[in-house]
Amino acid sequence: MPPTRDNLRSIRKYRHAAAAYDRTTRPTWPIRMRCIELLKLDAGDCVLDVGCGTGLSFEPILEKVGRNGNLIAFEQSPHMFRQAELRAKGLIAQGWNIELLCASAEEVRFKGRPDAALFHYVHDISRTPQAVDNLFEQLPPGTRIAIAGMKFFPWWLAPLNLLAWLKNRPYNVRAHELHKPWSLIEPRLQNFNWKPTQGGMGYIGSGRVRGTGP
Ligand SMILES: C[S@@+](CC[C@H](N)C(=O)[O-])C[C@H]1O[C@@H](n2cnc3c(N)ncnc32)[C@H](O)[C@@H]1O
Repeated sequence: MPPTRDNLRSIRKYRHAAAAYDRTTRPTWPIRMRCIELLKLDAGDCVLDVGCGTGLSFEPILEKVGRNGNLIAFEQSPHMFRQAELRAKGLIAQGWNIELLCASAEEVRFKGRPDAALFHYVHDISRTPQAVDNLFEQLPPGTRIAIAGMKFFPWWLAPLNLLAWLKNRPYNVRAHELHKPWSLIEPRLQNFNWKPTQGGMGYIGSGRVRGTGP
């Protein structure tokens, strides 16, 4: 399948954003760490890092799964991927197990069988039905999921949503879909819970992939 217009628009955006990306994410580091905590990782687990960007979550995940664990990560932007690849090469040289793929969420096929999957600030992926279908087709029942990102403020703070929209527009193709950004993921999960972050302009949620049986 050729890349969609949305894929191409996002790739164009990250061509420019990639160089400064790591610096811009410092304020959300505590949310990244909370999200990884929600995955309840154990030594030996296999973890999927969805739209891994430059690979900022690699080390915190690997520290939890240890050298017998596995990290699978994918990213569609060649500019973000290049940085992730550099990071991964250094880690692989130290004996960590990483399968890194330059691919879109709509197309990616991974070999491993994840115990957990991280959706950290990947709004465009979690709002794209083909991407969600492709990923959940490959996630076994019971896979632990953690998801975090931006959302619109609650209705009583609605005027502030102009700010939220403007803040997200440069990065997200689907910035207008910030009301319930988890709504395509939630039906795939059991025991889904979410909490607001950043005064209501963000969210963090978790659950487990539903079984196929009754
Ligand atoms: C805000 S960044 C988050 C990166 C990383 N998850 C993190 O926490 O630092 C969003 C990432 O999703 C990637 N992305 C957007 N749409 C994608 C798609 N359809 N398939 C794969 N990656 C995608 C972007 O290229 C970008 O690197």
